[in-house]
Amino acid sequence: MTTDINPLLKQIESVVGKAGLLSGKQLAGRSAGIWSGTELEALALVRPGSTAEVAEVMKLCHVAGQVVVPAGGMTGLAGGHESTHSDIVLSTERMNRIESMDADSRYMTVQAGVILQTVQEAADDAGLMFALDLGARASCTIGGNIATNAGGVRVLRFGMMREQVLGLEVVLADGSIVSSMFNVLKNNTGYDLRQMFLGSEGTLGIVTRAVLRLHEAPLAIETALLAVPSWKQVMKLLRYFDGALPGALAAYEVLWRDHYQLNTGPYSSVDAPLDTDEPYYVLLDVFISDHEHGRDKLEALLMAALEEGEISDGVLASSEAERARFWQIRENFEPEQACYNKIYGYDVSLPLEAMETYVDEVRGALLQRFTDAALYAYGHIGDGNLHFSIYPGAQQERDAVDEIVYSPLQALRGSVSAEHGIGLEKKAYLGYTRSATEIDLMRRTKRMMDPANILNPGKLFDL
Ligand code: LAC
Ligand code: ZN
Repeated sequence: MTTDINPLLKQIESVVGKAGLLSGKQLAGRSAGIWSGTELEALALVRPGSTAEVAEVMKLCHVAGQVVVPAGGMTGLAGGHESTHSDIVLSTERMNRIESMDADSRYMTVQAGVILQTVQEAADDAGLMFALDLGARASCTIGGNIATNAGGVRVLRFGMMREQVLGLEVVLADGSIVSSMFNVLKNNTGYDLRQMFLGSEGTLGIVTRAVLRLHEAPLAIETALLAVPSWKQVMKLLRYFDGALPGALAAYEVLWRDHYQLNTGPYSSVDAPLDTDEPYYVLLDVFISDHEHGRDKLEALLMAALEEGEISDGVLASSEAERARFWQIRENFEPEQACYNKIYGYDVSLPLEAMETYVDEVRGALLQRFTDAALYAYGHIGDGNLHFSIYPGAQQERDAVDEIVYSPLQALRGSVSAEHGIGLEKKAYLGYTRSATEIDLMRRTKRMMDPANILNPGKLFDL
């Protein structure tokens, strides 16, 4: 056993117990994450049961100069959780409890390893709502959502993960515990140290607990799918619905024609709800707080948009099952996987007025270079957040495709990552979005907080 020969692992085992440390053959069958399809590579997988144990483990690793890669649900799309055979992977999977819920004050105290969907359901049971929602809800953890400042499908209305966190507890690289477990919305006392960890991708500390903000739950959610003839109208309709339904428009997603056709075509289990052929399809969620009028109002808005030619067709989901089917057209990746042996995913943001041209130009440049390539565009367009799924063609040159997607963003003042983070995947392109002074300040912060460079080193940037 590795534990017999590695004194550090022996010491760690004395902190976390036998169940808290897996190494060697015990790691067989452990996945490196839902997207990778490979086995976890690590010197050991350490699974502490408490903040105090995380702190003790980090003290030992700090003294030993041992690299630690924090792991939540391992659903990240930028490689922030990737590890090698010499790393200790520290998983929060045993710290998965909701500690308390205060419905009257609308907050919940949780451990970092709790699954997002568990938090959503607990809030729901209390007649409230946790606002963060994203496709990986059944696997991703709150700690990972915090470390990556996760986005998803409700950002337009409720903001990203950083807006949902009232309090935070973090263990630093040297094992010190920073506890900022406040449960108030306003706390204007100097630097907001808590926010430094949101989006730090495990490079500054390990999130162990958090106080989460809860919102009132809507009475119902109505979902509509619209066929839209032009990009101008896509932009106009966002303001039309947001303006007419103040505070109620909770998602505004757009599917470019190809994505809509693929996800309603022969490889999909969902049939096309709209039989039109338009360049854009808008999927929107509206929170209803008044059963009497909510759906009627949305129906009237759809009718008016149809009469004025702003949409060529539209349909309002008539049941929960139909809502789920509409969302599947947006979120389902199985048709892509069935059609292509390799897909590169992208997550960028840019001003809406530049988006139509940007997508056309990226598609054009891609097809010019790789004639057998394919591009699917979709995303959280209400947030200016565009995703691409790109099949690069038989040549499969990742760097060339990256360059085609990322380089126009510099002039547009867009971002090479809207919501997935930088991780390993976008390290080379951080400078397209952040200035040299910004990156220098990030580096200095990292050196100050983790002088031995043991916490997720090489992610975000190299030192
Ligand atoms: C989505 C993921 C890719 O929005 O962020 O589907
Ligand atoms: Zn997304």
